[in-house]
Amino acid sequence: MIQVNNIIKTYNTGEQQVNALDKVSLKINRGEFVVIRGASGSGKTTLLLTLGAMLNPTSGDYIFNGNNVYSMSGNERNRFRAKNIGFVFQMFHLLPYLTLLENVTIPTFGKNREQAKKLLNELGLGERITHKPFALSAGEKQRTAIARALINSPELILADEPTGNLDPENTDEVINIFSRYHKQGGTVVVVTHGTEADKFADRIISLKNGRIE
Ligand SMILES: Nc1ncnc2c1ncn2[C@@H]1O[C@H](COP(=O)(O)OP(=O)(O)O)[C@@H](O)[C@H]1O
Ligand SMILES: [Mg+2]
Repeated sequence: MIQVNNIIKTYNTGEQQVNALDKVSLKINRGEFVVIRGASGSGKTTLLLTLGAMLNPTSGDYIFNGNNVYSMSGNERNRFRAKNIGFVFQMFHLLPYLTLLENVTIPTFGKNREQAKKLLNELGLGERITHKPFALSAGEKQRTAIARALINSPELILADEPTGNLDPENTDEVINIFSRYHKQGGTVVVVTHGTEADKFADRIISLKNGRIE
């Protein structure tokens, strides 16, 4: 499903140059559950944003279902991302002035409200759909963000330290949601420092200084 060929990502900040990804090549099969590990600064977020069609590499290709993602126009790539990829962040990134239902339907531009309600119900938030995010616990916020990631039934879920702000109980719950999605045929790539996802992982990839070890 995914082929990453020799990707280099260099950040230029004034005089400094940082090689965040240094010739990364990687294949991910449909239906795989992949865990990515590595020290802080090793390039995990850069790799995940690249896989998420959100960050132009300096060089190299990213092929997803035969599409060369970074040769698409910006609009094409936005549509491609909304249709195929769900992204979950450590800090949730919910919009504070929208209700849970409205947050979940951001990727559908307000459509598919019934599907959003169904997802929020399944994730135990059925009573909260008209609430704003501030009233929620961290675990509830992350479940709302996962519902938003799932609303378009994407083939791929990417999650960047999704349990970094959660207690052990909510950590297990989030990983179990990913596992259910995976059992239904979904492809999952999770960046995590913990070992909670290891028992579901088909593969664990280690990054060090922008390279796969
Ligand atoms: N927007 C940016 N501008 C400049 N340097 C960045 C930027 N984002 C990340 N970096 C640098 O790239 C390297 C990899 O960062 P990152 O991908 O966030 O690693 P990780 O997620 O593993 O902590 C780090 O040295 C970081 O400081
Ligand atoms: Mg990171």
